[in-house]
Amino acid sequence: MKFFSQAKIDTKELQSFVDLASSRRSVRSFDSGQQIPKETLEKIADAGRWAPSGANSQPWEICVVEDPERVREVAAVMASQADRLNDHCKGFPHVHKKHWVHDSVALIAVFVDPRWAETYPVALDSDLDRTEYMENRSNILLVSVGAAIQNLQLATTAAGLTSAWLSGGGEPQTARDLQGLLGFPPTHIPYGIVPIGWPRRKAESRWRRPISEVVHWNKAAGANLRSQQDIDHYLAKERRHSIYKDAQARDEHVEKAASDGEIDVVDDGTP
Ligand SMILES: Cc1cc2nc3c(=O)[nH]c(=O)nc-3n(C[C@H](O)[C@H](O)[C@H](O)COP(=O)(O)O)c2cc1C
Repeated sequence: MKFFSQAKIDTKELQSFVDLASSRRSVRSFDSGQQIPKETLEKIADAGRWAPSGANSQPWEICVVEDPERVREVAAVMASQADRLNDHCKGFPHVHKKHWVHDSVALIAVFVDPRWAETYPVALDSDLDRTEYMENRSNILLVSVGAAIQNLQLATTAAGLTSAWLSGGGEPQTARDLQGLLGFPPTHIPYGIVPIGWPRRKAESRWRRPISEVVHWNKAAGANLRSQQDIDHYLAKERRHSIYKDAQARDEHVEKAASDGEIDVVDDGTP
């Protein structure tokens, strides 16, 4: 009772957390060199370890790569992954300096063993299991992993470092390369690779949908739900400006693209 009577919202702590969350940025240019203390990297990994997961399965192994030679090897794998992506997924915006990852001071590879999805709800009625639960088991696995990677990134930001989130480790060729390099068996897939480094410059802002459109109070605000047309438009006109540019530059480009259909190259966020 006493506890509840004293409860109050800690608005200051809440605001500093929101500030931290909004200042986390995917940064793709690091100042190379200066090592990150091992204790700092372990703290960052610890934040990942505390993430929630379906059935508390903790389906991840958090591999911290900080030996400079090993960092170079992992960076080389990710640079090849970027080359393959740029060759095969034409049209997907990419950064010109695709080898920026070589400036990472450390990398955290989050390996996931999907067999842990077996620990999520299974209906004993097999028909119902297929329609209701089976697919959701992989959703539970993936969102759990997302929570862990997000924690790693937030902790990195809190330490004054910057990071990015590379999903290419989930591609089979890259997964095999990383498994071989880091000694993980084929059961373990590196769904997230987080290069960490010293920010080369202050992290820019990034476009977000306005809060009044994203947040639905008590029921769906139907007018704010995005349609297939919005997805098509994003793909055709906005995506290439929205991933790497700061928010203001993005808005200017999108406005220009809407008025004259201009197509510009994707940059790497360097001012
Ligand atoms: C699941 C996931 C996969 C991502 N994969 C990549 C990636 O492979 N390469 C990359 O440069 N950024 C990747 N990103 C980063 C996004 O592009 C970035 O979060 C988004 O553009 C918003 O920018 P911000 O993180 O700076 O706010 C990924 C992010 C998520 C959540």
